This record gives sequence, C-alpha cells and structure tokens, in this order.
Amino acid sequence: PAPAPATPPKLGFAAVAKNKNDLVTVAEGYNVSILHALGDPLHYGDESWKDDGSETADSYNRRIGDGHDGMYYFGMSDTGTYQADRSDRGLLAVNHEYVVAPYVLHPAGRTAGAARNATEVEKEIYAHGVSIVEVKRANGTTGMVRGSSYNRRVTSATTMDFTGPARGHALLATKFNPAGQQTRGTNNNCANGYTPWGTYLTCEENYLNVISRAAGDDALRSAKEIAGLNRYGLPQNRKSPYLWETAGTADLFARWNSSVTGATSADDYRNTINTFGWVVEIDPFAPTSTPAKRTALGRFNHEGAWPAPAVVGQPIVIYMGDDSRNEYIYKFVSKALWDAADVGKGMAAGAKYLDEGTLYVARFNADGSGEWLELTYGKNGLDATNAAYPFADQGDVLVNARLAADKLGATKMDRPEWGAVHPTTREVYMTLTNNSNRVANTATPTGSQLKPDAANPRYYEDLKGTTSQKGNPNGHIIRWRENGTDVTKLNWDIYLFGAQADAASDVNLSGLTDVNDFSSPDGLYFDKRGMLWIQTDDGAYTDITNCMMLAAVPGKVGDGGVAVAAGGTSTIKGANATADTVRRFLVGPKECEITGITVTPDNKTLFFNVQHPGEDTTPDWAAGTFGSYWPANQADANVKKRPRSATVVITKKDGGDIGL
Ligand code: FEO
Ligand code: CA
Ligand code: CA
Ligand code: CA
Repeated sequence: PAPAPATPPKLGFAAVAKNKNDLVTVAEGYNVSILHALGDPLHYGDESWKDDGSETADSYNRRIGDGHDGMYYFGMSDTGTYQADRSDRGLLAVNHEYVVAPYVLHPAGRTAGAARNATEVEKEIYAHGVSIVEVKRANGTTGMVRGSSYNRRVTSATTMDFTGPARGHALLATKFNPAGQQTRGTNNNCANGYTPWGTYLTCEENYLNVISRAAGDDALRSAKEIAGLNRYGLPQNRKSPYLWETAGTADLFARWNSSVTGATSADDYRNTINTFGWVVEIDPFAPTSTPAKRTALGRFNHEGAWPAPAVVGQPIVIYMGDDSRNEYIYKFVSKALWDAADVGKGMAAGAKYLDEGTLYVARFNADGSGEWLELTYGKNGLDATNAAYPFADQGDVLVNARLAADKLGATKMDRPEWGAVHPTTREVYMTLTNNSNRVANTATPTGSQLKPDAANPRYYEDLKGTTSQKGNPNGHIIRWRENGTDVTKLNWDIYLFGAQADAASDVNLSGLTDVNDFSSPDGLYFDKRGMLWIQTDDGAYTDITNCMMLAAVPGKVGDGGVAVAAGGTSTIKGANATADTVRRFLVGPKECEITGITVTPDNKTLFFNVQHPGEDTTPDWAAGTFGSYWPANQADANVKKRPRSATVVITKKDGGDIGL
C-alpha cells in the first residue's frame, strides 16, 4: 500500500477573482515585489535597463535574459556550499526560454527583412539560456545581490559537454566538435528540475524556433536520417521563425542551419538539431563549471525533469514530459544508488547518477493500470530490425527517443507540461495542457488527429459558441502511484479537468466554480508541505481572465474517478474540487503566462515568473504603446514602460507561511 499522505495543509487565503487587469493581483495580506526583469545587469560594470533597447549585444552575457520560465531556489551556506534548508540566502537559477515577440530588447522591435540584423541576432542568442543570481533576504523581502561572484549567464553560445551513452556519437558530430563530445548553447529552456546533490537541470523544449533546414537537403541524406529529422519536426525547406542563420556567415550564425553544406559532418552543422532537446545540468555553486547535456535522459521536446524525493540506497528517479501534441511521458531511473555523502559534489555527482541508467516511456491502460516501457537498445525490438527507424546502438535510441517510444506503443498524451512529485507519498502529477488534435469519438481521424482515450478522455467544443476551440482546449492533470517493488508498474487516475465554471457538467468534470476555475494547466509544483501550486498558460479562457496561479490540496490517487471507457466523457470524473481543496491565489498582468515557481524551505518566500506580458499586441514604437506596461506599473499604474518578463517575490505581510 502507498504511504498515507502527511497531514495535508489547509488553504488559508481568500480566493482572488478572475480579472483582466494589467497587474499581478495576489490574495489579500500578501506583498509583491520584482526580483529581476529582462535586461537587468548582474554586475556593476553595465548600466541599468534603459527602456530603449540600447543595451549592447555583448552586455547580455551579463544581463538577465528574456522569457523567464522554470526556476529553482538553492539555499547557500556562509561558505558558498549547497545548504538545502537555508531560506535567507541562496542562488536562484531561472530559465530564459525565448525572446518575446514584441522584441522589446531591440530599439524598435525586430528589423524586418529576409536577412536578420546581426546585432539583433547576437543579442537574442545571449538573451536565451539560464541566469543564476545570488538572492538574500533583508527587511522581510528577498532581493538580488548585484555584483555577486555567483551571478552567471549561460546562453545559446556557452560551451557544454555531452555526457552519457550518446557522447561521441556520430549523430552529435559538428564542425565545432567533430568528435561529438561538446557543443555550444542551451536553447528554449522551458521548465526545469533540480538534483539532491544541489545542481540545476534545465530542459530544452522548442528548439525548432532557431533551427532551419534547406530545400533539397533530403537528397544529401540517408533515408534513416530523413526519418529522424521528420519525426522531430524538421523537414527539408523548413525555415525557423527566428532566422538566426540569415544574419551572416560567421560561425555564431551559420551553425543554426542544420543542412548538409560540406563533405562530412566535420565540415558543417547538419547535426545541429541533434545537439538540442536534452536535459542540461548546471552547477550553480561552481560559476566556471562546464554545463553537461546528460544524454541518458533522452532527446525530445523536454518540458522539465522532476525528481522523486531521494532515498538513501535507492536509485534517483526523474520524471519528464515531451510537450508536443500526442507526445509521451518518460522517466529515468539511475543505475547508481543514492548516497547522501554526494550532496555538494556538483558535476561529479551528476556524472555518477545521470550518465548511467534506464529510460522508460509510459503507457496508461483504460483500467487505471499502466506500464513503464524500457527504451534500451536490443530490447523490445529497438534494434536494426525496426522498420520505421533501424537503431544502431543506445546513442541512436537516445537521440531518437521519440521513434523508440513509437515502437513500444506508449500513450500519446494531450501535451505533457510540468510534473511534480508529492514530498511524502511520492505520487506523481503531470499537467496535460490542452490538445486541439483530439477529435470526436465518432469522427474518422486524419493526419495526426486522435480519438480520446482513457488517459486523454475529452473531446468537446468550448463555451464561446465558435468552432475555434475544439478537442481538449482546457486540459487536465493526470497523476499516478508506483509499485515500490516493480519500477515498471503504475496506477493512475485523473486529478483535475480544467474548465470554465459555467461549462456544461460533462465538460466541467471537476465541478470548478468561480473561486478555482482555470484553463490550460502548465506549471506545477509541490512545496515541502504537500501544497500543490498550479499555473496556467492559456489561450482558451483569456477572453475572461488573465493567466493565474492556484493552490491546491490534492488528496491521492483513487480519489478521482478512475477512467472507464475511452471517449465516454460522461463516465469520466476528476476528483471533485471545492473551495477548500483548490483556490485561486493570484492573477497575472495582460497577455502573460504564469510559469516557474520555487518556495524557500521555510515556506515564507515564494518566487514565480511572469512570462511575455503584452505578447499578443504589436507595439506602436513611435507612440510608445504596448499590450502591457508590466512590471513598471506594478507599484504605480501611471508608470508606463516596455513590458518585460520578470521574477516576482511573494511574502506574507505578517511574515507568516505562504498559503496558510
Ligand atoms: Fe515552454 Fe511547454 O512550455
Ligand atoms: Ca510550459
Ligand atoms: Ca504552455
Ligand atoms: Ca508561453
């Protein structure tokens, strides 16, 4: 039997009303402050953000990047080592996922034209990646320590190692490193993870934003190579939206062209796409350490990497999602068993636990059971006999993990976003944000369309009375419990279904009301008390409310209705949500996504990110009008500056524990 949950915490704040204000609206009794925003300098040699895009490209190697996303707080001791229980001093690692569409980091947006402006592209390359800053608590709130020797940027140009089974593989060979042992840059870092030894995991998701492939390239490739490229969304004659490769012939730009241009892979960047889509480990306590792409965790559109609580003498277990429509949920189980003496051992501990192990992909059965299917070369038909893609070795299986998962019959999900593992019961939750490719059970699917199944059971049309939102536009949250003795078995149910409060009862299956209705769950995080935080990135409910964060006390697997038959929405229930178990904690500013969350171990400081405020509105640069003026307007609504992604600090006015 699963361990009983610890005494669940009680939600103790008044629910925040849905709204469309250009402001972070948090529950009564809480303070909001901004930790850092796009362009803020990490050190004293660079000027403060000037609100006119005049900062140099090079200075972004020392400034906060764009598109704040996943993050983690690491407590730090007086001597600069990892101290997991410290709340008043630490290092905050933040992902900078992408350059937000209004391009406020340039003087007047993105310069138009077939070829990109080289200065703008260079700035964008440095505005991606990860920032690490020291944070300190003083006078009741927490601020960034400008000038700290721990402050660091990792960008799309930073040198990194490949480690694990695919290190040195021919599929990773580039002109930069023909041996396939190193590459440059981490890109489109969405969500994240952390390790019990005190390192950060950053996950590469939508790297197709920056990678192009030329017309006619198929003629220069083997059928096997073409199958791999197509499965990862890079057909020939495909131009990236960012067009970085058009900015010039310098290597900094040319490398984004994943086409055959030379005689061998040592002469070109035909394998650039294979160098992205990994989980990257960074040691925040060692600012000069080289980040590592840990290939044993597989290559796909990694949303994040969420560890189960480490237990001495047991393997390290990490859950992961591939965020694309109809993609899979994975887990990695280390070969090495956890030894608490490895805390603080940085990249050496990472090599020990993350470079050898077993990768699995999930199948969810209609009766509420499930299996983890092993992605190991030579097992389950993962060898040269696989017709769709003949595998050569384990490196090939990992580089093309999606093709391996296809072979095993894993369950295609409604876009797996974040996961979270309960701190005591070890039950795993994962958001399935939405899927417009589900079709009615009575329909004949075409292309990539799928009928509902037990784990992805909804097809409906949303309330707006238009035909624009079909499929599963509001998303859901699945959860599962594992059998402690057999790592290949699980039991699952559906925790919550997103829906508008006024939706029909066969759509609003969790009984959401005005205090807790939401759409498109994305960010997810368990704090140490077992309070679950749910964040939204929505396109289906933004006519009514900006994106939001809710707090929840989720119960356990089995409280929700066990899914019965595929596609019969009226027979599928989620757990019933009440105002006592799910409650809206905050609403973000206009046209933003709420994403990224970490709480100090004393539960008194909560950090979250506002990503892309004002993204949907084309600015009028001459008039200075934008879709949002956040965060400059948070303290004074009359202050109007360019909108910027930012990290927000939440504390309770009475100094108490967040959420209670
Ligand atoms: Fe970057 Fe899947 O969100
Ligand atoms: Ca996300
Ligand atoms: Ca999302
Ligand atoms: Ca987004």
